[in-house]
Amino acid sequence: MIQLEILRYAAGGQCVARHENRVVFIRGVLPGEIVNAEITSEGKGGRFLIADLISVITPSPLRIAPPCKYAGNCGGCDWQHASIETQVQLHGEVIQDQLNRIGKFDQIKIEPVLSVPGETGLGYRSRVRYATTNNGESAMRKHGSNELVPIDECLIAEPRLNEITTSNWRPSSEITLVAGSDEVLVLTDREIVPQISYSNRHGQWVVPAGDFWQVHKDAPEVLIDSVLKFLDPMSGDQIGDLYSGVGLFALPIARKIGRDGLVTAVELDHRANKAADQNLKDFDNVQTVESDVAIFLKSRPVFNKVVLDPPRSGLNNSVIRSLNSIASLNQIVYVSCDSGTLARDLRSFADLGWQIKVIQPLLLFPMTAHIETVVHLSKVS
Ligand SMILES: C[S@@+](CC[C@H](N)C(=O)[O-])C[C@H]1O[C@@H](n2cnc3c(N)ncnc32)[C@H](O)[C@@H]1O
Repeated sequence: MIQLEILRYAAGGQCVARHENRVVFIRGVLPGEIVNAEITSEGKGGRFLIADLISVITPSPLRIAPPCKYAGNCGGCDWQHASIETQVQLHGEVIQDQLNRIGKFDQIKIEPVLSVPGETGLGYRSRVRYATTNNGESAMRKHGSNELVPIDECLIAEPRLNEITTSNWRPSSEITLVAGSDEVLVLTDREIVPQISYSNRHGQWVVPAGDFWQVHKDAPEVLIDSVLKFLDPMSGDQIGDLYSGVGLFALPIARKIGRDGLVTAVELDHRANKAADQNLKDFDNVQTVESDVAIFLKSRPVFNKVVLDPPRSGLNNSVIRSLNSIASLNQIVYVSCDSGTLARDLRSFADLGWQIKVIQPLLLFPMTAHIETVVHLSKVS
């Protein structure tokens, strides 16, 4: 066992300490703490060490008692030991660091991380995926391991999902519990995927229950508000909704751009694209396209505004170059769920002459190291 002084938060739920001139990554701690730890493994070539927390000797004043009895054992959460205010602060530091280090932006202003009003970090997830044990109990995996921890409730899940029984599942399988606006579904790996519906003050969507939908119950509304604020859709706009899923953004945009406008929703997944057709059927000013965005952009579409919401891997360079070559395009809203790939992509846009107007992080995955960020870019003419 060794004693470590925790120096700073790194990313991915890990903090950094030093031991015998080597960097040590450790989870479950906070900057400034002194802890007992055990080295569990070495990074490539022994350049860094990974340690497990054994006990906290001197706690940070920011440490709180984890609300969940499985904290530290279950790999689902990173920050049960930090208040929402602390999580907000640490996320802000990580985004700033990634924009400096990966994006090579020396001076860049980031808006304070916003959380959903009244956020407690509990009861927000509309979807939970469990593994099942040999005895048919629902379980989560330990961090970075296949070892299962039986779980009888997940405190970050919507309470409706915790009312479902936690045992007698098919042993050694996977189950997903999904809460829609009105119903709750249990998906096993043997089923045909049913649809589930969601609604908020912007509209109503059907979603194939196993497919992508924002995981925080309030995220769809919060994200639409942010996207509409920065995109400012107007009558006659020609807008691309790229990586559009089931049409979360295309629907409220269609309401704003009138009969002369057009929103083109581009999505690779066949099932999501069919659901988008269903969700957008009442609008004449929408077209849906089932395609890889990179291939679609080769058709030289005419847009004056674009919203981008790619998966965690971000954009590839050909997408950024194609967008930059659309002469009429002068506004982009980039919705990102990975601040590392976002920093990389913002550097590419900046090098092509795009101005970063606002970077707005949103705490949409509380208790975890994930963060959503909405960025408004405009073309410097
Ligand atoms: C982060 S989700 C966003 C979906 C939607 N904007 C929403 O918020 O509900 C990313 C979406 O991009 C789709 N996707 C992934 N790679 C793609 C590609 N190369 N071209 C088009 N769509 C892609 C995924 O199927 C997924 O629906």
